[in-house]
Amino acid sequence: MNSKKYEAYPTVPMTERKWPTRAIKEAPIWCSVDLRDGNQALEVPMTLDQKVEFFEFLCELGFKEIEIGFPAASETDYNFCRHLIDNDLIPDGVAIQVLTQSRPHIIEKTMEAVKGCKRAVIHLYNSTSTLQRDVVFGFEPEDCIDLAEVGARLIKEHISKDESGTEFILEYSPESFSSTEPEFAVRICDAVLSIWQPTEENKVIINLPETVEYQTANVFADQVEYFCTHTKWRDKIIVSLHTHNDRGTAVATSEFGLMAGADRVEGTLFGNGERTGNVDIVTLAINMLMLGVDPKLDFSNMNRVIDVYEECTGMKVEARHPWAGKLVFTAFSGSHQDAINKGRKKMEERHSTVWAVPYLPIDPADVGREYEPIIRINSQSGRGGISYVMEKYFGVHLPKSFQRDFLPVVKAATEEGGSENELLPQQIFDLFDDKYINVLEPYGLKNFSESQDSEQISTVEALITDNGEEVAIRGTGNGLLDAFVTAFKTYTGIDFEISDYSEHAMKSGSDSAAITYIEIVNLENGETYIGAGVSSSVTKSSVRAVVCAYNRMIKVIR
Ligand code: KIV
Ligand code: ZN
Repeated sequence: MNSKKYEAYPTVPMTERKWPTRAIKEAPIWCSVDLRDGNQALEVPMTLDQKVEFFEFLCELGFKEIEIGFPAASETDYNFCRHLIDNDLIPDGVAIQVLTQSRPHIIEKTMEAVKGCKRAVIHLYNSTSTLQRDVVFGFEPEDCIDLAEVGARLIKEHISKDESGTEFILEYSPESFSSTEPEFAVRICDAVLSIWQPTEENKVIINLPETVEYQTANVFADQVEYFCTHTKWRDKIIVSLHTHNDRGTAVATSEFGLMAGADRVEGTLFGNGERTGNVDIVTLAINMLMLGVDPKLDFSNMNRVIDVYEECTGMKVEARHPWAGKLVFTAFSGSHQDAINKGRKKMEERHSTVWAVPYLPIDPADVGREYEPIIRINSQSGRGGISYVMEKYFGVHLPKSFQRDFLPVVKAATEEGGSENELLPQQIFDLFDDKYINVLEPYGLKNFSESQDSEQISTVEALITDNGEEVAIRGTGNGLLDAFVTAFKTYTGIDFEISDYSEHAMKSGSDSAAITYIEIVNLENGETYIGAGVSSSVTKSSVRAVVCAYNRMIKVIR
């Protein structure tokens, strides 16, 4: 590829920078621009009803500042703005934000759009980009500053005349801030601020857009730190970020920008927006959560967030979208499944309240994903994953010998439908049932009874089936199982004994079934065979398990 065609963007000549050693300690002020930047980038823009639904949902998620449109540029945006105000749909404490260019008739229409609103952010912008000043506007730096100042003055005038009691917040964006010489960006913002005269009580928002992402995230952080340390108004302004995702690093630029001193972030749900989108606020918020910082936005029902977003925008959230995609909490690989399984168990054993599960950076339950299959079984899966599914869905804690034996059974089943064939939990249980529990040929168990003599020696009388024919058998031994084994081997003629035994309740509660796992050893050839039995009575499940293990042995040796 022809790399000579491109030149790296200039870096900021800073000898000292503080941001690399800082951490994000608290949530920024969030501003959703879904209904403006996001909407203007949609193939089919949202209808009024969709905008209302989206707006109400953003309020529910906890946004207190929402850019709802560019009312002077779009009749739909104007009508939407009026609809919200006239129908009193803006909750107390929420400010709507409207975008305007620095042109008199546009500012006038914008001010008309927000008349009567309780709280409104008037967002003035003009492009300050070095390239655009040259090739688009033919501007000298002074012309660019003049344009911003004209807009700033006009807005101030309109506000001074407003009698509707609106609380106005002012915002200025040097569009393409990150493609502007840092000194010039400070100059133009300070010029606007000199007109607006913010105070510590009445701060102005200075929004620093990375309108197009041209450089690595560290350069943007330098630009933000440079701005924060060179403006004359730092303590009277809210420094806001508005990053786009051309290079795929908008989340990093916003995070570094916050470390560099910013207080506020503009972005959209799932990063919808022009070209590759705006910064994704969902990712930013959950990134904060996993660092132990309350993001002050509620994404605890991620599936609902996805549903509303997809329904209103017509866009899709990809399967691997951070924290939200359908596959992001799912492990297919055997070693990952095993580690997740062990991590979860250790947390339970240690009663830990701090999340520490390998391969799962957050608890999926925190974003409402507790019921989805975290571990899914395909041909890449291993024993850990299969055990996890059996435990989580059916309360079956497979002993190691069963785990080993069952793995190739599951693998073979996944490969039957091609390497991508996935087995659902019920299919895995059915396979287990077929292979170890429901093995009723050639011998079946109809019923049995036990009696004990004064020496505690048990006698078992059982009715079994041999290839469908009923047969009564009888044996004695030390306890029920021993007596049954004696009766059974006397009848069948193959000498065996139980070499391993375990059982547990499959789920808690009075109606719980018991599952017994039996390993028998054929005393004639030394081979071992396993089988399982399920019943509401532990003794029944044990006897059934013996019969199944025996049937499995017969299938191999005959
Ligand atoms: O990306 C951008 O620069 C914008 C401005 C209007 C803030 O959307
Ligand atoms: Zn933008």
